[in-house]
Amino acid sequence: MNVLVTVASRHGATAEIGSAVAEVLRADGHVVDEAAPEDVADLDGYDAVVLGSAVYTAHWMPAARDLAARLAPELRQRHVWVFSSGLATQPAARANSPHELLALMQDVGALGHRAFAGRLLRSELAFAERAIIAGARAKEGDHRDFDAVRAWAAEVAAQLRALTPHAAASA
Ligand SMILES: Cc1cc2nc3c(=O)[nH]c(=O)nc-3n(C[C@H](O)[C@H](O)[C@H](O)COP(=O)(O)O)c2cc1C
Repeated sequence: MNVLVTVASRHGATAEIGSAVAEVLRADGHVVDEAAPEDVADLDGYDAVVLGSAVYTAHWMPAARDLAARLAPELRQRHVWVFSSGLATQPAARANSPHELLALMQDVGALGHRAFAGRLLRSELAFAERAIIAGARAKEGDHRDFDAVRAWAAEVAAQLRALTPHAAASA
């Protein structure tokens, strides 16, 4: 199938998670494009979409929310999975705007969501970001678990295999 992986990322950590997902889907025989959400004008030609975002101050990044809002009707006609990446750990990860995420998932007809641990490198943060982080108990370092990412991507690949290409993509 033709799959678009589109990920909002400020410092690159979440984009690399998206690339790991794309790699697994490609290895499973899918044709996968990667693009930043702001560069996606439409979903012509795609059967499925994986939409991801880093979480900042309990929200998905604007570019990812904007894509979901702009292309909701097109997304609803395709197979869609979403993922988030941040530093809040369970049970706090569930406190990351659950209503916003639930509404977004319903809007785009998402088949599933997964939260992955992210990366915090103080050296690459802007001054304002350091100030925000100073008040939180976020742990510096790369907490990404690429085995967990690849395992989730393999689940998505297996579900895609069981689905037929979407009519909207071949129209
Ligand atoms: C200013 C700031 C605010 C953040 N707020 C949250 C948050 O509310 N919840 C969360 O889980 N992670 C939060 N994080 C952690 C980021 O989501 C994490 O560093 C992520 O991996 C960054 O991804 P990126 O490199 O793709 O931008 C925050 C990080 C910064 C610097």
